Amino acid sequence: EKMSKTIIISNRLPVKVNQIEHGFQFTSSEGGLATGLGSMHSADDTIWIGWPGIAVKNKEDEANITSFLDKRRLVPVFLSEEDINEYYEGFSNDIIWPIFHYYASVHANYKQSNWEYYKSVNQKFLDVVTRVAGPDDTIWVHDYQLLLLPGLLRSALPGSTIGFFQHIPFPSFELFRLIPWRSELIAGMLGADLLGFHTFNDVRHFLDAATQLAPVNTSANSLTYEGRMVLAESFPMGIDNRRYLDLAKSDVVKQHVAEVKAVHTNKRRLILSIDRLDYSKGILQRLQAFELLLESNPEYVGEVALHMIVVPSRDTVPQYRDLKELIDRRVGEINAKYRTINWTPVYYFYRPFPIEELSALYLSADICMVTPMRDGMNLVSKEYVASRVNQDGVLILSEMAGAAKELVDAILVNPSNIASMRDAIVTGLTMPKAEQKRRMVLMQRVVAKFTVAHWMKLFMSRLAEVKQMQTSLS
Ligand code: G6P
Repeated sequence: EKMSKTIIISNRLPVKVNQIEHGFQFTSSEGGLATGLGSMHSADDTIWIGWPGIAVKNKEDEANITSFLDKRRLVPVFLSEEDINEYYEGFSNDIIWPIFHYYASVHANYKQSNWEYYKSVNQKFLDVVTRVAGPDDTIWVHDYQLLLLPGLLRSALPGSTIGFFQHIPFPSFELFRLIPWRSELIAGMLGADLLGFHTFNDVRHFLDAATQLAPVNTSANSLTYEGRMVLAESFPMGIDNRRYLDLAKSDVVKQHVAEVKAVHTNKRRLILSIDRLDYSKGILQRLQAFELLLESNPEYVGEVALHMIVVPSRDTVPQYRDLKELIDRRVGEINAKYRTINWTPVYYFYRPFPIEELSALYLSADICMVTPMRDGMNLVSKEYVASRVNQDGVLILSEMAGAAKELVDAILVNPSNIASMRDAIVTGLTMPKAEQKRRMVLMQRVVAKFTVAHWMKLFMSRLAEVKQMQTSLS
């Protein structure tokens, strides 16, 4: 054992366990957190604690999964069916997720039992952390499923170094205040020494909520809570830029590109869209904009295809299941109405893809549309930019994505404005190569400089600084 290590904690491990007929299968997890942080976990002085993505029925299976994960320095937190139902599907994804993405509903029911499980599962995570944490370790808690954990850790291990990073937006106080347990959530977050968010707006919203709900003194982005200094700052997360460059030049990917070209012939244009299944991603609005394009600009019928990948996610939560049905139906309708004998308007896939195939699609797409209604960061936009080794291609990006604060040379759109998204597609399809290049070069500079490794280093060194400032103050 090393003297000191970094402990990453997130609800979901980067590896997901699936039940198959005889035993288990292990696959990689979806979403920005797992893909982003995955590359950082390669250092052998880190361990990662989280849920393996399945309700395990007996001790023997738990032991088998634990030992498989142990070789990868992953430590499981096992959750029961009720935990998953109340803490994960309920509190995390039916209360926090919608509110934090500005989907406040007058019909929301804030179930007390969801909250009780949210507390008890955060406690379960605490139990596993205290089992493996040494006194000199740095503890880094991630995301909205674990907002109480920093506070629990602070009580259990008072002197420890605790960072927290939120991968989704932090909403305006007027939304956050709706949550019945808002003060407890803020108090939980304030257990950390450093709180990181993707954008400055998220920091501002958090500071506002903390000031209104907790006994804190604030000056700029520094708070004093229970006599301890706490900092809140923005750290926009990046990607492993090098990996996408290397992929783009690899033979496997070139082979896949040829396959894509064979279907979407060179002359025809390709619009790419890749998301997890989520109402916050604006998938239906994007389909609407594409349909409007075919209707108002018939010259594009037969000439432009939308290649749309939706990665299955949370499909046991009712809103997600409903969304899936709406997407299926919409795609069916558009294809039935516009398809020709040798052209399909929407190539729709509902499954995950290996990174080599995604890379080939990034390389082949004339336009990449990333138009969420609200998104903490969105790494797909950065992956597209990183993959464009020929320095052409057009990114259409929602102003509601955290990435829009950095990729200002994309075509920025308001995803609620369907006509403006249609206009953006036309602008993209007719953009001269020189202009594509001008914008792409600027965006590539940003993505190449602010990588995920850079992000991690910045956060970690800032966390160490906060610790130092606390000691010199006391
Ligand atoms: C977002 C969240 C992550 C989450 C991911 C996938 O990126 O910020 O915390 O892991 O979505 O969602 P899931 O519910 O499958 O973990």
